[in-house]
Amino acid sequence: MEYKILKKISEEDIRKKVEEIARSISEEYKDNEPVLIGILNGSFIFIADLIRKISIPSEVDFIRLASYGSNSISSGKIKLTKDSELLLRGKPVIIVEDIIDTGLTLSYLIKHIKKKSPESIRVCTLINKFGRRQKEIGIDYRGFDIEDGFLVGYGLDYSEKYRHLPYILSLAI
Ligand code: PRP
Repeated sequence: MEYKILKKISEEDIRKKVEEIARSISEEYKDNEPVLIGILNGSFIFIADLIRKISIPSEVDFIRLASYGSNSISSGKIKLTKDSELLLRGKPVIIVEDIIDTGLTLSYLIKHIKKKSPESIRVCTLINKFGRRQKEIGIDYRGFDIEDGFLVGYGLDYSEKYRHLPYILSLAI
């Protein structure tokens, strides 16, 4: 791939943000064990780091949604390919995303999880890419606000590659 690196979020910066978010969650949910729902595939590294920094008990499960296919532009079409297998009724749910872009995925997912009657739903994302938002999403825990750009690394892919990078790169392709 021919690209120019516009910005890099270092491993150290990511680690600090993950710890900060984990501290807030640990404090705010100390009397009410949360269920963290990671959205596959992108969130698998973020949620793995996050739960290990949260100092209170939590449950973890995953939902798989696909929207982009192999392109970098959202198709706007969301498909649920794996649902949560935990009982969410009456439980405080935290949705964990690697990135919110248009907001279409989250908007679909929040409606889907609401049908399971959880006690509450909060949203946690490592990256809030706000420049192309189509659906307004309330974000309770966020790592980095980035207006635009194509991001890879720390779970984020380009045609399924680069998820393994321990840092995040913003690329001009
Ligand atoms: C990415 C990301 C979010 C979604 C955000 O997933 O992980 O789930 O896009 O985009 P949106 O706000 O425009 O809906 P993607 O569909 O690329 O799949 P992946 O997690 O497997 O990489």
